[in-house]
Amino acid sequence: MSRGYFISIEGPDGAGKSSLIDRLTPKLYALLGDRFFQTREPGGVRISEAIRKIILNNDYSEMDARTEALLFAAARAQHVTEKIRPALAAGKIILSDRFLDSSIAYQGGGRGLGVQEVRQINLFATAGLQPDLTLLLDLPSEVGLARIMKHRKNDVDRMDQDPLAFHQKVRQTYLQLAQADPGRIKVIDACERAEKIADNALQLIQESLKGKI
Ligand SMILES: Nc1ncnc2c1ncn2[C@@H]1O[C@H](COP(=O)(O)OP(=O)(O)OP(=O)(O)O)[C@@H](O)[C@H]1O
Ligand SMILES: [Mg+2]
Repeated sequence: MSRGYFISIEGPDGAGKSSLIDRLTPKLYALLGDRFFQTREPGGVRISEAIRKIILNNDYSEMDARTEALLFAAARAQHVTEKIRPALAAGKIILSDRFLDSSIAYQGGGRGLGVQEVRQINLFATAGLQPDLTLLLDLPSEVGLARIMKHRKNDVDRMDQDPLAFHQKVRQTYLQLAQADPGRIKVIDACERAEKIADNALQLIQESLKGKI
């Protein structure tokens, strides 16, 4: 059987990751059939979902940044073991809404825990698994936050309550990661129209899959 392939979609809050995946899903099904496999963190894995509830709980305003980073890594470990590794072993082409780079950008950059430190605990969590391709949706933080506030006024979780400066650090960290690893991380302008973004993303995915699956 051909090997699997692991693609993650990354970007700050409101960048349009979930909207992009909704648009890509029918196109990738048409292209790849049953080999296409979509997931999102925390992956619908019950232990990861339980951990996620703790992370997002508005009551836990005292949560330490290291606690938060370790909880995200723990949720990811279970998602990798239960869903992602078995799917890769079965030759699936996986598309994940967020993965390890989110932790590096949010906890490493945004919360200031350090890129290397957060990368290390996450590589422990995933036993070294990283995506083959990452599409980074980039846009000014003000634009992303405005998109979220417009649609989610009454549903703001603990992670959404951080100020603009936090989101700017997240964005800058994502861009630094892309600069350091241009072979894996491809930046897409998320200010474009949704259809254009989906076309760009599909083209990058097709180029990247060529000859590899
Ligand atoms: N290209 C676009 N142009 C304008 N608005 C967009 C675009 N893409 C998505 N949106 C809108 O922006 C909002 C946020 O999009 P979406 O939920 O897909 O972002 P996200 O990156 O998944 O956010 P989160 O990190 O919070 O999950 C939605 O209301 C969506 O309709
Ligand atoms: Mg989303």
